[in-house]
Amino acid sequence: MAEEAILGYLATSEEIPDSGQFASQHGFQHNDVVNVIKSLHGFRYIDAQDIKRESWVLTDEGKMYAADGSPEVQLFLAVPQEGSISKDELQKKLEPSVFKIGCSQAGKNKWVDMGKQVSRKVQHVEDKVKDLLIRIQKGEALGKDDINSLKARKLIVAQTWKGYSVKKGPNYAPTRKKVATDLTRENLQRGDWKELEFKEYNFNAKGPPAEAGHLHPLLKVKQQLKNIFLQLGFEEMPTNNFVESSFWNFDALFQPQQHPARDSHDTFFLEVPSTTRELPEDYVKLVKRVHESGGYGSRGYMYDWKREEANKNLLRTHTTAVSTRMLYALAKQPFTPKRYFSIDRVFRNESVDRTHLAEFHQIEGLVCDKGLTLGDLIGVLNDFFSRLGMSKLRFKPAYNPYTEPSMEIFSYHEGLKKWVEIGNSGMFRPEMLLPMGFPEDVRVIAWGLSLERPTMILYGVDNIRDLFGHKVDLSLMKRNPICRLGID
Ligand code: PHE
Repeated sequence: MAEEAILGYLATSEEIPDSGQFASQHGFQHNDVVNVIKSLHGFRYIDAQDIKRESWVLTDEGKMYAADGSPEVQLFLAVPQEGSISKDELQKKLEPSVFKIGCSQAGKNKWVDMGKQVSRKVQHVEDKVKDLLIRIQKGEALGKDDINSLKARKLIVAQTWKGYSVKKGPNYAPTRKKVATDLTRENLQRGDWKELEFKEYNFNAKGPPAEAGHLHPLLKVKQQLKNIFLQLGFEEMPTNNFVESSFWNFDALFQPQQHPARDSHDTFFLEVPSTTRELPEDYVKLVKRVHESGGYGSRGYMYDWKREEANKNLLRTHTTAVSTRMLYALAKQPFTPKRYFSIDRVFRNESVDRTHLAEFHQIEGLVCDKGLTLGDLIGVLNDFFSRLGMSKLRFKPAYNPYTEPSMEIFSYHEGLKKWVEIGNSGMFRPEMLLPMGFPEDVRVIAWGLSLERPTMILYGVDNIRDLFGHKVDLSLMKRNPICRLGID
């Protein structure tokens, strides 16, 4: 509508001198006219010049007086024509602000006598303020003195009005042509592409932001942890087998076959293939013997060790199974000290809740050297965890079938203001290390923790199902910040 009016007007007239006037003459909102001018100008149908004008508009107070009359006149009219009224009485008849301003203005104008009793001094008054305000509302121009007095009373404020003067542009036409944005198959078939006018390329337009890959918070924390292990001179162990035999997951770790963790309520056993294909037979014999009757200064568990139980395939319940394989391989070589780590997935047959899933990631580190002590373990743990930003640690005696002594690791959480359990650790038992063939004075200190727990704390996730699994909102990955460990 406004577009047709503007282009139509320019067909017969040289110029639209003022978009504001044009809008009110043609019954358009000025805003709409401005939008059309901008768009036509963009396609060079018209040339537009800015016009700026200072104008005055009423403040809220000004609008009130334009409607109800100025306070001084309201006050004057509340005073009786004859006689007088007490000031208290008069005050009750008016709004507090009207009374206050009215008293001072009407007194200044010498319209009333102000004392304990108030009486009129003149017969008749004119509401000049109201008249001036109404004239401003209509857009009329006022003299300097009137403007200044209204401005001083904060009844009007200046406003810059912006509009345009408009002339024909180089592409002027009385109606806008629809330009094609795409060359279609139909255009080619019909042959109408010859007549079509195409929209010009806008080389300044910004393209859509490129969608890139995003790392999951677990991967970010994992990478940081990897860096810490590498800084400390640890080598990564190959963890690329989720399926493991009970032998490597439990037996080689001196975990008895009756241990409750080996129950199907705790462990996922495989149906197909249900058993492992091969195990190192010489070593199996030694493991069987240490379970049944001990050796190396141990009495063993004194039960009948069953090969079928060791053959059962399962989803590994801890990455310590990987550590065991690595230590076994290491023991076959002439002894060299080693530092190993791994971060990968493990599986446990657990009921799922806010903090537990049936699969999670384990971080595991171990140091293998001659003559290591529990003091070395505590020292390494302090070094490792302080790099994660946890420098206050406490240890509590614990039990693992494969470590002695064993310690749970607690860290003081400054945010939660309490000690939280962060991991498990210990020194691998001789019943585990000696059948592998290590020299007697070789000790292995090791520890494990979950990757999910620090990630949830770092990223403020309080339900593990929001972090991992099919219910995760993908935008979690797009929005989350980089991982900063060690910064409290
Ligand atoms: N494997 C243990 C667990 O699952 C962690 C651990 C690793 C404990 C190494 C001691 C030594 O919790």
